[in-house]
Amino acid sequence: MKKILVTRKLLQSNEDRLKELYDVRLNNNDELYSQSKLIELSQGCDGILSALTDKLDEETIKKLPDTVKILSNFAVGFGNIDLEAAKKKNIAVTNTPEVLTDATAEIGILLILGACRRASEGIDGARASDWKWSADYLIGKQLTGTRLGILGMGRIGQKIAKVAKSLGMIIHYHNRSKLSEDKAQGATYHDNLKSLLSVSDVLSVCCPASKETINLINKETLEFLPKGAVVTNVARGDIVDDEALIDALNRRKVYAVGLDVYKGEPNLNPGYLKHKSAFILPHLGSATKETRTAMANLAIDNIEEYFKTGNCKNKVN
Ligand code: GLV
Repeated sequence: MKKILVTRKLLQSNEDRLKELYDVRLNNNDELYSQSKLIELSQGCDGILSALTDKLDEETIKKLPDTVKILSNFAVGFGNIDLEAAKKKNIAVTNTPEVLTDATAEIGILLILGACRRASEGIDGARASDWKWSADYLIGKQLTGTRLGILGMGRIGQKIAKVAKSLGMIIHYHNRSKLSEDKAQGATYHDNLKSLLSVSDVLSVCCPASKETINLINKETLEFLPKGAVVTNVARGDIVDDEALIDALNRRKVYAVGLDVYKGEPNLNPGYLKHKSAFILPHLGSATKETRTAMANLAIDNIEEYFKTGNCKNKVN
């Protein structure tokens, strides 16, 4: 029986399945393991079911025991894992695409709505009973007729585009390559970031974090946005230079932000906390029972497939 380290607590049905399949080392207290603890706990294991909170950098991967053959990441993103280091050590890295598209796109839409319609201020006012209806109370930005720029038109970007279009938004996107007509659903393609940003009344960051996208939204690129644009990020905090975005909010270059992800989570830049126009959520993208169950099942399927066939369709390195 293969021995698997599971770094974070999963939903009960997923842990039950793991127990049936493997000699499994569960994290009953859902402790956040340090890198050294993770290395220690992985001794004698054949695989690790990891989460986005595990920083599996080059140094950590080098120190993993040679018995570890797979890092099955419980996330579609894998910016927390050094893919090259894993490859060098002959460790397969897998992710959980598709199953979280709908849930994450829902949060992407919530960020757009929350930021544009001043939900943070509204919630604060309602909770404090400190509000009075008036014709100009918390006037926000209407989505109908507003241009939405999608940075990264993968599955999640496409789903956000579909819902936003049904709300009357006009969709533009930038992606490494132009989508087929069928997938683009009438959205306008921009072959460069500057061109996309210049038409983005609302920006939705949906691309993966990679060497190419880290700090892509920065002091310089923010200037390409129309004045008073809204910036939302449902992908990864690493894509945004926080200081630059907070400065743009301070200058009213950016009207509002909607964020679910942050650099250095769970500690977000305190500059966001000061802003009433920051609609902020604690990385809830895939947080529904259906989706978290499906993600963990897929992470388990990936381990099964890898040990049975020596390969896996969701291998990313
Ligand atoms: C969530 O952020 C994921 O990458 O699955």
